Amino acid sequence: MPTRYEQCQSDLQAHPKTWLITGVAGFIGSNLLETLLGLGQTVVGLDNFTTGHQHNLDEVRENVGEGAWQRFSFIEGDIRDLDTCRLAVRGADHVLHQAALGSVPRSIADPIATNQANIDGFLNMLVAAKDEGVGSFTYAASSSTYGDHPDLPKVEDKIGNPLSPYAVTKYVNELYAGVFARTYGFKTIGLRYFNVFGPRQDPNGAYAAVIPKWTAAMIQGETVHINGDGETSRDFCFVDNAVQANLLAATTEDEHKDEVYNVACNARTSLNELFDSIAAELAKEGVAYDKRPNYGDFRPGDVRHSQADIGKAISGLGYKPSHSVAEGLAVAMPWYRNRLR
Ligand SMILES: NC(=O)c1ccc[n+]([C@@H]2O[C@H](COP(=O)([O-])OP(=O)(O)OC[C@H]3O[C@@H](n4cnc5c(N)ncnc54)[C@H](O)[C@@H]3O)[C@@H](O)[C@H]2O)c1
Repeated sequence: MPTRYEQCQSDLQAHPKTWLITGVAGFIGSNLLETLLGLGQTVVGLDNFTTGHQHNLDEVRENVGEGAWQRFSFIEGDIRDLDTCRLAVRGADHVLHQAALGSVPRSIADPIATNQANIDGFLNMLVAAKDEGVGSFTYAASSSTYGDHPDLPKVEDKIGNPLSPYAVTKYVNELYAGVFARTYGFKTIGLRYFNVFGPRQDPNGAYAAVIPKWTAAMIQGETVHINGDGETSRDFCFVDNAVQANLLAATTEDEHKDEVYNVACNARTSLNELFDSIAAELAKEGVAYDKRPNYGDFRPGDVRHSQADIGKAISGLGYKPSHSVAEGLAVAMPWYRNRLR
């Protein structure tokens, strides 16, 4: 008996569709692109390279080969421009909206830029997709929407107050999606990602995520800085799980007009455990790292613990994470070692 994801993949291969991926030159977007091209789909990608990179697209091209690459067309453009969004959605069966400015600290430093990309840009994409009458609109929501709600694991309908401008923007996305369902009957699915990691997640820059940042530091023999006491915990989610959730969401036959689902593994890893796991995984790759981490202040806007209840995604979408944190690190570490050494 095939899993729902296996069935979804073979259905797509038998009946290829046209997809729009916004944020296609970014980490998650480029992983979506690679999977969809590998399944014989036609893909349009939109990105303005704010935090995404041409080298991510080049790597996908190399991985999928020239034949599959011919089914991809790229628009360098900005979701803050409605006409660009209208052009990008033209003829799309499915939209996977990933473009946004990520990072809680970035949003604290520059809330206006985050608001413009994440709220204005999101609304443009919603309007363009609704007017085009696309078959599905799946968007990157965020676990930051749980804010200060104390319950663990996090269940979709219990959220607290947002703790950062970034969290506000991601919550507003959900509010707009709900309004578009109720007002226009436009169907959307929000995927609340929890700390996604894997190949092509950017290790550079002030706002790099914890796994690529520490991995780069270890490979380069630098000290790792931990915000707080290291007992802060997260439900780290390998990118293949997020890709799976997107494909399942886009193709679900569920008639509900407006849903959000947690996307993670329902497991919690502390930063101290993560430090040890990355070092151990890199050791297998021949990278010896014996420095101890440097502990600093807690970071403003961060929640202490995060863990997803994934029951709704399992029952509603047939989601079944393919990789645990350890299995994901075992894929990601050789990738970083090859690129950063
Ligand atoms: N990585 C995670 O752990 C995580 C967790 C929760 C939510 N998310 C969300 O998932 C999505 C993808 O995140 P990612 O980790 O791949 O980040 P990323 O920064 O690698 O990708 C985002 C992409 O969007 C593009 N972009 C940004 N602003 C744009 C604009 N105005 N117009 C066009 N393109 C624009 C960037 O250039 C980049 O390529 C984002 O919406 C993010 O908020 C990510």
